[in-house]
Amino acid sequence: AQSVLILAIETSCDETAVAVVKDGHEVLSSIISSQIEIHRAYGGVVPEVASRKHVEVITLIIEEALSAAGIKPEQLTAVAVTQGPGLVGALLVGVVAAKSLALAWGKPLIGTHHIAGHIYANRLVAELQYPNMTLVVSGGHTELVHMEREGEFRIIGRTRDDAVGEAYDKVARALGFPYPGGPHVDRLAREAAAAVPLPRVWLEHDSYDFSFSGLKSAVLNVVNQSKMKGLTPDVAGIARGFQESVVEVLVEKAVRAVRSCNARQLLLCGGVAANVGLRTALTSRCKAEGIELIIPPPIYCTDNAAMIGAAAYVKWQHDGGTPLDMVADPGFSL
Ligand code: KG4
Ligand code: ZN
Repeated sequence: AQSVLILAIETSCDETAVAVVKDGHEVLSSIISSQIEIHRAYGGVVPEVASRKHVEVITLIIEEALSAAGIKPEQLTAVAVTQGPGLVGALLVGVVAAKSLALAWGKPLIGTHHIAGHIYANRLVAELQYPNMTLVVSGGHTELVHMEREGEFRIIGRTRDDAVGEAYDKVARALGFPYPGGPHVDRLAREAAAAVPLPRVWLEHDSYDFSFSGLKSAVLNVVNQSKMKGLTPDVAGIARGFQESVVEVLVEKAVRAVRSCNARQLLLCGGVAANVGLRTALTSRCKAEGIELIIPPPIYCTDNAAMIGAAAYVKWQHDGGTPLDMVADPGFSL
């Protein structure tokens, strides 16, 4: 069969990313233009600024991705784009670009779900077996997703308040680190001599849901109490206590979810999948339990367009293209 070449565009948050992916797993190019430096000054992503930055660079990044892949538009099978969820103004830039190109080049359009993208990042590094279970941990999402077969998603657990990455970023801020703080907390946690004890939130005994806002408040309390006593907070110890609490709950619930669905593999994805503490704990627990674990390299864990190309390929195989009158959907459901 002829190979499927997809140009994929991702602009749901603060990364302008474009990739060319062959047959849903071979990355011919993957360009990521990050706006982190710009948003850092504000302590988080400013939607208006994000949209404007996407507009500025999108054309350039598309050209760069095509030329790095050595692909001409006429060789493409389709143009894919993240349709949602995400910031509406940011999504719009990618969607308008993808529609225009699909129309101009006479190619089909594939509207893709951002989380399907994160999940299928695993397809870039391994052959997926079904049924499987994915632990999605990003700045906006914390979910356990069961896939009985390819392209079929069932969310069995989700956060009831903050996403893990969001909790990391808020804790990092309280400890005095710039946005995005996840990597700082991760590093400190591994350097700390001992952990400051912090609670674990399990919710109902059979629940696969998560809650991180209580833990975040507990961290803020410890920091404030130290300050009120005129002491310097044990920043590293707090980071370690926080990370141990988060990791213990994530690992335990993920392993239980794998068992309950007889999943053949556990997939990890999203920006927090870059966390060394989580990767290490999950790897050793899965080894002990005899569970096959797949983790994409960090560059495919944080937002990128190669993952959108992988997810779009699966959608294309099952459902074909998306009508050109589709719209960016910030609440797009999986
Ligand atoms: O998936 P992503 O790039 O964007 C979203 O779709 O949300 O995830 C970004 C999140 C941020 O909250 C960032 O702090 C977190 O991932 N993150 C980490 C680490 N690296 C990135 N959190 C903990 N430890 C890390 N090493
Ligand atoms: Zn993401």
